[in-house]
Amino acid sequence: MPLSGTTTRYGNLAQAFHWLTALLVLAAFLVSEGGPPARVYAAERASTLLLHESLGFAVLCLLVIRLVWRLFDRIPEPPAMPGWMELASRVTHWALYALLLAVPLSAILGAWFGGHPLTVYGFGAIGPFFAPWSAGAALADIHGTLGDIIMWLAGLHAAAAIFHHVFLRDRVLSQMLPGLSDPSSGVGG
Ligand code: HEM
Ligand code: HEM
Repeated sequence: MPLSGTTTRYGNLAQAFHWLTALLVLAAFLVSEGGPPARVYAAERASTLLLHESLGFAVLCLLVIRLVWRLFDRIPEPPAMPGWMELASRVTHWALYALLLAVPLSAILGAWFGGHPLTVYGFGAIGPFFAPWSAGAALADIHGTLGDIIMWLAGLHAAAAIFHHVFLRDRVLSQMLPGLSDPSSGVGG
């Protein structure tokens, strides 16, 4: 069970981080509920907010651990493809990483500047650590929009990975998906 990657495959740890992050982001998105602050922070919605904030906070923690591990890991080389496609995939990956940081961070700062704590299972209420500031509401709005953008971009990214596997028949999807073999190796899958 190689924890580290090879030139043709992400390691088991990188794959675990990737799929756990995808699940947590999807779950955070599915339980997200917007609306005016009076509704968002209403007592009867506290448990949904606690779940949403805990899932989002877990995404942020996982991102930090994952990026530290990435410094020591070996990242597979892309299979042969046109230069524009390789560039598009690099830009998408780093945009996804930027959003994995910006989505929870804008929410946490928005909550704190709005005078609300961050609520996380097992930690209770964290903050706010500074005095309320009118920019809190704008940050909360930005958070909602970035939350939508990450889902669209991740959807596009997933569609591209499936396109690579089915139509280009290269190893892009099999690099990240446990148990899937490289269609270009002729071993099947
Ligand atoms: C990857 C993680 C997250 C995703 C994908 C996500 C997604 C979203 C989305 C799409 C909305 C808007 C719902 C709507 O207006 O219809 C929202 C609202 C909200 N989220 Fe998150 N969120 C994440 C993490 C967090 C975290 C860590 C917090 C911690 C404070 C948080 C707090 C809130 C709050 C308070 C709202 C309601 C206020 C607003 O509309 O902005 N979220 N989230
Ligand atoms: C919220 C959901 C997702 C996020 C945030 C996300 C994010 C990322 C990021 C940041 C990378 C770059 C990894 C690195 O090199 O460090 C990556 C790679 C990858 N992801 Fe996702 N991903 C998501 C969902 C999916 C889904 C649903 C699929 C497939 C159906 C997928 C397939 C892949 C593949 C195949 C790679 C490797 C691409 C390559 O080697 O060029 N991802 N993902």
